[in-house]
Amino acid sequence: MRLTLRSTLADVWASPVGADVLSTLLRQLGLGTAWVTNPVVRRLRLSQIKALAGSRVGPGFFDAILRLLNTEAPPPNADPATTAPDPWWKRAVFYQIYPRSFKDSNDDGIGDLGGIIEKLDYLRDLGVDALWLSPVYDSPGDDFGYDVRDYRAILAEFGTMEDFDRLLAGVHDRGMRLIMDLVVNHTSDEHAWFQAALRDPAGPYGDYYFFRPGGPEAPPNNWTSMFSGPAWRYLPERGDWALHLFSSKQMDLNWDNPAVRDEVIDLVRWWLDKGVDGFRLDVINFISKQPGLPAGDETIGALIGYRGAENYFYGPHLHEYLRQLRTEGFDPYGAFSVGETPGIGRRMSSLLTAPERAELDMVFNFDHWETPGKVRFDDYRYDLNYLKAYLVDWMTHYPPSCWMSLFYDTHDTPRWISKVEPSGAHRRELATLLAVIQLTLRGTPFLYQGQELGMANQRFTSIDDLRDIESLRLYRELLDAGKPPAEAFARVLAGTRDHARTPVQWTAGPHAGFSQAEPWIRGDGDEATGWNAQDEAADPDSVLSFYTAMIALRRAHRALTDGEVRFVGTTRRDYLGYLRTCEDETVFVECNLSAHPVRRERRPGAFTLLASNYPTVALDGRLRPYEAAVYRVVTVRPERL
Ligand code: GLC
Ligand code: CA
Repeated sequence: MRLTLRSTLADVWASPVGADVLSTLLRQLGLGTAWVTNPVVRRLRLSQIKALAGSRVGPGFFDAILRLLNTEAPPPNADPATTAPDPWWKRAVFYQIYPRSFKDSNDDGIGDLGGIIEKLDYLRDLGVDALWLSPVYDSPGDDFGYDVRDYRAILAEFGTMEDFDRLLAGVHDRGMRLIMDLVVNHTSDEHAWFQAALRDPAGPYGDYYFFRPGGPEAPPNNWTSMFSGPAWRYLPERGDWALHLFSSKQMDLNWDNPAVRDEVIDLVRWWLDKGVDGFRLDVINFISKQPGLPAGDETIGALIGYRGAENYFYGPHLHEYLRQLRTEGFDPYGAFSVGETPGIGRRMSSLLTAPERAELDMVFNFDHWETPGKVRFDDYRYDLNYLKAYLVDWMTHYPPSCWMSLFYDTHDTPRWISKVEPSGAHRRELATLLAVIQLTLRGTPFLYQGQELGMANQRFTSIDDLRDIESLRLYRELLDAGKPPAEAFARVLAGTRDHARTPVQWTAGPHAGFSQAEPWIRGDGDEATGWNAQDEAADPDSVLSFYTAMIALRRAHRALTDGEVRFVGTTRRDYLGYLRTCEDETVFVECNLSAHPVRRERRPGAFTLLASNYPTVALDGRLRPYEAAVYRVVTVRPERL
């Protein structure tokens, strides 16, 4: 049904895109979705809401929303035979490597492929099945590899193509798999395509990017970049502008040009020919832009922190382009795909991942990353009850044929344990609680380097400690807006991605055993107090030992990978409990999401303990701070729950 101003809120809610957009807007306003189900509110027409809102929303707000809601979602494929019924990635545990910070093998202070090869046995012993490698392609490094100069070459700082081939063979020899990072919403401005387009606007590359005419005075529209400032760069060489949603050296590719799509398919096949097992697709939901690049709505911009996103985060050809990429690039190789999809909600995620639609295998959804009404740079304490609400919602409503990813830390966010307990209190218990939740729920877990060690946010003391372009640009923007330096630094510190990018803490030795040389970014010495891989491997009660045991437990119990999920005690604050059940086994998990004791739930029969994040377990009494326990249910009496 085409939605118009005459449509009611109930009509909007009935459309998958509408429900996701409404949920996102309400969440950003710090409101719940409950009132959407109120019968009076549901009957309101958009035109009435528009009148009620008056001048509180920008003039283009409703047009922008309607355009988004009417974005076409192609019907499912008639033939659902495109994915294997039981693909390997549904039972896999992934581990993300950010190569620059993982391990330095030649002591120049920068992590590299040789360093990853040195640690392959460590990764095998941890028990992970697959590695996701953040970009290792040739790049000027404006966004540390997310600005690719040559998709078929390895960055010299990281090593050579021979090193890459050795790495891939080493991964496969150990029975693991490797996926690459496919960064194709944009290329570096130093990429040969962009350089050719600069030299010869009328030539074959002239339409590979979003070039728009106009003098240097004003950019073609009001969109802002994710990294502060306008999303447009003026090109004196050509006398026009080019679009960049990220840094001014990350130029957006024009996917509406079929030649661009063919190039991407070619490079995907080039790596798959080499034997890699799939890709994580960087900001892949941004590839289709609304024709004419309409102005971004101010109200939406203010809510999410940048302007224009409603015109590209779910563009009109997104599904079509993904299907082409899959049929021509991924499917001939049976390759795996997980899309990074910021801003996409649960229902849109299912449109992108339903197997019969043949687009992506999984997505990374970010709705759980910040509590409602907050953005990453706000200094606040994350409430795990919100994580619970998110998980209950997804586990209950994500269609059974779709499969979700489970993750907390990545290279793009501060460390989760520090978001929950900034003081560092209960660090071990909190880190292991998060491990239990991630490794016993339905979906595919993705760990991020250092998470298995309980690595925490860094005590950076000045802006000079930071390296990330996003942080440096935000700091500058805040100063330009008149903020005192201390205030600007405090805001950047709350959200900087550099918290996750300090060297992995391998030992208590110099530079945490990452390198003999001064690292490109400094850690704060946390490794000295036992928080390092060497000491933790020797300690059976460490976070590392716990992760290793939990991954092994997941592998040993089919209920944990394949089982149904049923939550118990859902209405109880600070308590998370669930049963995982498959034919011959039921596993019960219970967690305390807080730092104070909470009551245990009644248990469904006789139990044996499979895992606990406390050294001794009292079966009765209260759950201690962040306590988590996993039981096998011996006699099942689920009706008692
Ligand atoms: C993704 C990456 C992030 C990068 C951005 C631009 O969000 O994960 O690190 O800055 O895309 O490529
Ligand atoms: Ca190095």
